[in-house]
Amino acid sequence: MTTQNVSSVDPLNWQSDGRPVPEVKGGNRYLINGEIREWSGQTNEVQSCLFFNWNSGIVRPTLGAAPVLDANEALDALKAAQSAWDNGQGKWPTMTVSERIGAVQDFVARMKAVRETVVELIMWEIGKTLPDAAKEFDRTVQYIEDTIESLKELDRKNSGFSVEKGFLAQIRRSPFGPTLCMGPYNYPLNETFTTLIPAIIMGNPVISKLPRYGQLLNTPLLEAFRDSFPAGVVNIINGKGNEIIPPLLQDGGVELLAFIGSSKTADQLKTYHPKPHRLKSILSLDAKNLAVVLPDADMKVTIPQLVAGTLGFNGQRCTALKILFVHKSRVDEVISELSTAVNAMPAGHPWKPGTQLTPLADVNATTWLRGLLDEAIKMGAKIMNEGGGEVIENFMKPAIVYPVTPDMRLHEVEQFGPIIPIRAYDDLSEVMEYAVETQFGQQVSLFGNDPKVLGPLIDAMVNQVSRVNINVQCQRGPDTFPFTGRKASAEGTLSVADALKRFSIRTLVATDYSEANRALINEILAARSSNFLTTDFLF
Ligand code: G3H
Repeated sequence: MTTQNVSSVDPLNWQSDGRPVPEVKGGNRYLINGEIREWSGQTNEVQSCLFFNWNSGIVRPTLGAAPVLDANEALDALKAAQSAWDNGQGKWPTMTVSERIGAVQDFVARMKAVRETVVELIMWEIGKTLPDAAKEFDRTVQYIEDTIESLKELDRKNSGFSVEKGFLAQIRRSPFGPTLCMGPYNYPLNETFTTLIPAIIMGNPVISKLPRYGQLLNTPLLEAFRDSFPAGVVNIINGKGNEIIPPLLQDGGVELLAFIGSSKTADQLKTYHPKPHRLKSILSLDAKNLAVVLPDADMKVTIPQLVAGTLGFNGQRCTALKILFVHKSRVDEVISELSTAVNAMPAGHPWKPGTQLTPLADVNATTWLRGLLDEAIKMGAKIMNEGGGEVIENFMKPAIVYPVTPDMRLHEVEQFGPIIPIRAYDDLSEVMEYAVETQFGQQVSLFGNDPKVLGPLIDAMVNQVSRVNINVQCQRGPDTFPFTGRKASAEGTLSVADALKRFSIRTLVATDYSEANRALINEILAARSSNFLTTDFLF
């Protein structure tokens, strides 16, 4: 099978090759209180973001239907989580760490059995290429397995006692309570699970509200959740965020909010809680990661990284490079080499071998992106690559835009799509001014080789962003690295190990070092009458 280059937005790229459209039966199901329920109310027809140029014209296949739950049902999910929590005395939050690990191991084994179906749906629902969809699944499984190992390690460290200034204590971690997890549509599996799994494994019952796109791919996992965890520990709901989330938070019963999405929504969510100081939050928000191409950058290294960094999954990554600052002495070269590389990127359906560019997950995104382009053009920028910005349905050919100036929205907003804004700089003070003034602070990529230039630039950048990448694109992985951001880009740090800490609170049992109390502690340990106070070693 061959793929075609996107040198023009050619309708021939979008013909069907006969791959069967997945039809999800029972997409109207959801999970509350250990029951898979079928929604008899309003459902949402889920159409693929992929389109086909069939004889009858452009067709976008229907994949199934997803429930549009109402506020009552969402509140029922909260009730289920509260009942599993049972004021901290439920079976799940008081279980031994080893029993919780056993349940998650059981889940991951069941999850692996539906890999093929989930990978197929990632492609059809959000347009991720086959290698990237498979990577999303496998990375998620790896994340869960690493989380288990990390928790064992954490528990081993906490299984001893501390003796300090006349006190004897065991310091462990305990859960917060009902947790609301909301993942994004660009990583509907991975970023749903990178909060849900650490939350539950630390003992918090969860309500997971599925993202706008990428809902059906969770359907094959409902049985695995139901069968691996006690009732109410995992509740999976779908619906319109603005209808079901406000009542959930207004109830006041949610203790912890894990949200990956826009800062505007995060601000709004926090206001719904009757006691905002009580709501703990873990937020991964917008970003406008910049690449800085220094005068001595090696183009053989830089160009492939810029292409991957700006256009991986069509730029729909929070970690994507969203603006390039290029030294004026290298601008022509960067534009010319980037244009050649971009024009050689194969576009088409996600399963075609070699495909790199696909239709956008949000079928309305091209309207937003074209608006940004048209505004920049009106203000004096040009699209530098042939056919850049051309649109067919929800596919947009990547656009390299230059010169981008501070008055354009493209200079500041997160485009979240295939647009590469370029600004030329003369002096690094212009780059630093941008890094300081932007409301975002996730990551930066520096391309260059002079230690005398890079050293001070690293020192300046580490106080503006949370990860400085040298001669590589911005990214979240490896998942054992801390993933966070400054300013409007994040609250709290996620990584395999950090997430376990974020979803729990250090809690200790302490007594004075008297003989009587030492004997009492020993008796509790010997009788194994506590699941918290224990010196069991997790193998
Ligand atoms: O959308 C944001 C993701 O966390 C990015 O992860 O850098 O692995 O694509 P990634």
